[in-house]
Amino acid sequence: MNLPSSAPLLSVRHLSKTFVLPRNSRDLLTGAPRQRLQALRDVSLTVQPGEILGIVGESGCGKSTLGRCLAGLETPDQGDLLWQGESLSAMRSRRERARRIQMVFQDPYASLNPRMSLGQMLEEVLHVHGLAGDAAERRERVDELLLMVGLTPLLKDRLPHAISGGQRQRISIARALAVEPQLLVADEPVSALDASVQAQIINLLEDLRARLGIAIIFIAHDLNVVRHISDRIAVMYLGEVVETAVTETLFGRPEHPYTRGLLAAIPMPDPRLRTNVPSLAGELPDPLHPPEGCSFSTRCPHVVEACGMRHPALLPEIGEHAVRCLNPAASTQFAFAGGATHPTQEID
Ligand SMILES: Nc1ncnc2c1ncn2[C@@H]1O[C@H](COP(=O)(O)OP(=O)(O)OP(=O)(O)O)[C@@H](O)[C@H]1O
Ligand SMILES: [Mg+2]
Repeated sequence: MNLPSSAPLLSVRHLSKTFVLPRNSRDLLTGAPRQRLQALRDVSLTVQPGEILGIVGESGCGKSTLGRCLAGLETPDQGDLLWQGESLSAMRSRRERARRIQMVFQDPYASLNPRMSLGQMLEEVLHVHGLAGDAAERRERVDELLLMVGLTPLLKDRLPHAISGGQRQRISIARALAVEPQLLVADEPVSALDASVQAQIINLLEDLRARLGIAIIFIAHDLNVVRHISDRIAVMYLGEVVETAVTETLFGRPEHPYTRGLLAAIPMPDPRLRTNVPSLAGELPDPLHPPEGCSFSTRCPHVVEACGMRHPALLPEIGEHAVRCLNPAASTQFAFAGGATHPTQEID
């Protein structure tokens, strides 16, 4: 895909988010201060119109918090969110942001009202946003939305429990599309689904991007799924973006030792597709007490003295391939056996 050179749809600049944790009973007794957990640290990235940006990283690295900050469900402590160059926080209302950015969640059942029929749910969104005029127009638009996500309008009188998991995720997507957003933040949208249904939902998202030109931030644990769907990928570790590159580059020439470790951990039945890099060793540090200097220094096979003292920036700030590492040259000897030119593992 050729990415346009105009202003990005969304620019995230140096975003940080800290949660102040509630005191447990011991802290209450000892009078210890409330603990602060920095879930996002200095996150910068861009999303171009119509682009699919994959976000990957281990559990707890801040993927959902980032998604929620973008959708306005959490308020960042620091940083800027620019929508086509203009501040998102300056937007007059939450609704205004919701018209541009919509979120789809991992568990569609939890995000759907169990007592409302599918049709009522979609109509409600249209009503709340003042879209699609009178009742007849709204009903017509509901049918259109159902068809858009590959469902028959005959399903509209059903309740969420009376449809399958895959159909529920389609309804969540239809609900998000009802406001005609330009960006969809899909937070692990297929993690709760069977493998065959996963592929269908991924195909649907790709198809929607092609038909509607909508941009998608696709959050997932599974690098193979992200590789399949994404134009670019941002890799997160302990609240930070540690590497971002076009998908082919990330798989062919990963520079951050963490990215290389993640890639090495992908199961490859074919020995020709295996890497010469050991999989990730060691435990994820306690996010309440992140390492000094580079966050990855406690697990890095290429760690040097400076890594424990200096916190690396994500560089270059402008460019296609950015890395947060003081010693990326040590990581260049990567062979993802044939790099990006080898066939991708198909999702089935
Ligand atoms: N509301 C909250 N209050 C306190 N801590 C939170 C809150 N939400 C998230 N966290 C913490 O922030 C960090 C990032 O969490 P987040 O859910 O964003 O990670 P994630 O990458 O989405 O993980 P997963 O892959 O498991 O979904 C974690 O340490 C988590 O415990
Ligand atoms: Mg999450």
